[in-house]
Amino acid sequence: MQESCSAQEAQNHYQTLERRHFERVESSLRKFIPAYDWEFETQGRPELEKVLELVRTWVGRTVIAQWFPNHENYWLTICGRSEVGKTHLSDRAIRCVRDATEAIAAPVRKSTSTCYRPISADLATVPEIIANHHQDKRWLWNWNKQAVIGIDDLGTESFTAPWDKDTIYSVFAERSEKGKVPAKSTIITTNMTLEEVSKKFDPRLASRLRRGKNIFHVMPEDTKAFYD
Ligand SMILES: Nc1ncnc2c1ncn2[C@@H]1O[C@H](COP(=O)(O)OP(=O)(O)O)[C@@H](O)[C@H]1O
Ligand SMILES: [Mg+2]
Repeated sequence: MQESCSAQEAQNHYQTLERRHFERVESSLRKFIPAYDWEFETQGRPELEKVLELVRTWVGRTVIAQWFPNHENYWLTICGRSEVGKTHLSDRAIRCVRDATEAIAAPVRKSTSTCYRPISADLATVPEIIANHHQDKRWLWNWNKQAVIGIDDLGTESFTAPWDKDTIYSVFAERSEKGKVPAKSTIITTNMTLEEVSKKFDPRLASRLRRGKNIFHVMPEDTKAFYD
């Protein structure tokens, strides 16, 4: 009886520490992410503020999902025509995930014995993924192992060999699996509509892009005039 009580106490204590830790990380992120150098001009336009807000939300969830294993992987898909800032935002988002993890992990690492891994995160286009995979079969395995990856310009590629498409499928399949620790978050930029994703790839991928808390956002068309 005594033993089960103390086990319960230990569990409660652990949960309290975990909750406090979570709150600390969240409040640090709430300061770090908006203050990040996004270099993204919004000119106060609500549609562009909204895009930036969604990207920031994804970054916050992604960082949290690295540290608290009960959090899932999150996907962010930014759609829209070219030159509206899709690559720019995904590149910044990936940098922000890396920098936020480092900035927030470093002080925690100093004050506790907890060991945080530095996060690995990378952005590549489909042709780059395929070319690297052809050169070195271990490349894809290592690349896809990363906690966060970005696939830039999905849909502009043309697949020459049928297995090239399978290569890209394998990336999505791996990153769709639940319960991976750390969670595998993904950012995608594309000029395709959901119907086009369905046709070119798979209806399941199209629905995956919008499932659960995944964010799917179409950029406003007339963005360019505002930062020129
Ligand atoms: N809202 C914005 N504020 C500042 N620079 C922007 C903005 N949108 C796009 N850019 C810049 O315009 C150029 C094209 O953007 P890019 O991200 O490559 O577009 P896309 O990937 O949608 O084709 C880049 O130099 C990018 O930094
Ligand atoms: Mg681009």
